[in-house]
Amino acid sequence: MKKDPISPPRHIAIIMDGNGRWAKQQGWPRIKGHERGAESVRAVVRGCREAGVEYLTLYAFSVENWIRPRDEIGGLMKLLRLFLENNEHELHENQIRLRVIGRLGDLPMLIQRRLKKVMAATASYTKGHLILALSYGGRAELVDAMRQIGHKIKDGSLDPDAIDDQTIVQHLYAPDVPDPDLMIRTSGEMRLSNFLLWQLSYAELYVTDVFWPDFREQHLYEAIEAYKARHRRFGDVE
Ligand code: FPP
Repeated sequence: MKKDPISPPRHIAIIMDGNGRWAKQQGWPRIKGHERGAESVRAVVRGCREAGVEYLTLYAFSVENWIRPRDEIGGLMKLLRLFLENNEHELHENQIRLRVIGRLGDLPMLIQRRLKKVMAATASYTKGHLILALSYGGRAELVDAMRQIGHKIKDGSLDPDAIDDQTIVQHLYAPDVPDPDLMIRTSGEMRLSNFLLWQLSYAELYVTDVFWPDFREQHLYEAIEAYKARHRRFGDVE
């Protein structure tokens, strides 16, 4: 019997990996890989809209990435600034809300200001949610949550025995965002790399050998189909 089509994942999280290797393959500097990677970001935002995915979280810069060469960090910050400048109109046209998770205060002041401006301007949109993980680490997020919880215990506003899953969630960077249903990692690496450690507990994982700069809508749709196929099998007694 033909079954109903399974709905797409509501939330996709992506580890965008392989920019450096892609550039090396072409004999180009690493920043060229990041530049083309920014095109892939545009493509997946479009793809999510087409496929009916509501939330997209992208691992754009980790807490560990600060040890990269200064030039590369500067190049990435510039790309982020250009991305905001060149794509803000598309967020408005499609009513997509931009958010950031991570230690925003670590970023250069100019970038912080630009991000806050676009976040404020898109805050009322609900059609789609683009969440950039910047200076993000899953452990850092849990450390930040524990600190807040610790302060509340200290000032008497929280009873330690009342702490449950929801208490932790409420102290994460984006408490209202549903957990990802699907996590995609490009360039073949089988690691979580400190990404959304709490939130990925029940996510389906999908790893592709495609380097991030080559990742386009078609690759996103393939990942979504793989996700749906897993769900079609799930619970099937035949
Ligand atoms: C990982 O590839 C990628 C990053 C650390 C940065 C991701 C950034 C972008 C895609 C561009 C800008 C982002 C936005 C949101 C506009 P890698 O450098 O670790 O690659 P490698 O493992 O092959 O060296």
